Amino acid sequence: MRVLVITGAGVSAESGIPTFRGKDGYWRNLDPAKLATPEAFARDPNLVWDWYRERRQRIRKAQPNPAHRAIANLALQADEFLLVTQNVDDLHLRAGLPAEKMVQIHGDIFMTRCSRCEFRRYEHEQEQDGGSLPKCPECGALMRPGVVWFGEQLDLRKIGTVENFVTGGDCDLVIVAGTSALFGYIIDWALRARGQAGQLIEVNPEETSLSQFATKSFREPAGVALARLVNELLGNANRRAPTH
Ligand code: APR
Repeated sequence: MRVLVITGAGVSAESGIPTFRGKDGYWRNLDPAKLATPEAFARDPNLVWDWYRERRQRIRKAQPNPAHRAIANLALQADEFLLVTQNVDDLHLRAGLPAEKMVQIHGDIFMTRCSRCEFRRYEHEQEQDGGSLPKCPECGALMRPGVVWFGEQLDLRKIGTVENFVTGGDCDLVIVAGTSALFGYIIDWALRARGQAGQLIEVNPEETSLSQFATKSFREPAGVALARLVNELLGNANRRAPTH
């Protein structure tokens, strides 16, 4: 089986990480869609850093849920597999998904990078609350979270990895889980990857702009639907395996 999985914030919701556009996403009454922007950072970097530090802390304390584990299991069993996640948390990795089978298309929340030069560092350890604004040790400019904000370009190397996979052969199965699928490239990758004959399964309690293209939709929480789906898939695959 050749499989592409695309995930969004809904897959980490059951681990207690708020989604962006759900009612729980608001932080101090602020809309995350307005905080995760270069404009918000230019206007009030302290506020944006406070939000990211709090999210980092929540992610450190969170645990992968059955959806993350099901995807990791599928990754290990499929002949060819790629996960494209819009999530900046590390829960897919902590569930056992090999790093080389995954692209974090919107970056990694634990990466901090210079807003001017190429300097970057990984900061997984807990930070001081209300810490001062980090400055680049190389050039002195303000450091910023190493994630992709609204209106910013995706990393070209990451796009290359996804494109290689999508153009490398039709997938038997494409699963899109826990994303409002608002970005054109998400829908484009899902549709191109499934080709003419592959299945496109959506897992989302709500309808999205991708739903019309899905060959099957599970209107359930990702932890429930993915655990069942992967069990069925792997069970069937094992039953079909030739015996010696
Ligand atoms: N299981 C599956 N899906 C769920 C669950 C759940 N338990 N809970 C919520 N959802 C669905 C919601 O119905 C919604 O469609 O997850 C989706 C979450 O949507 P968003 O908050 O818009 O998150 P996402 O699609 O990942 O956002 C994409 O936008 O804000 C930027 O860069 C940020 O990566 C993010 C991107």
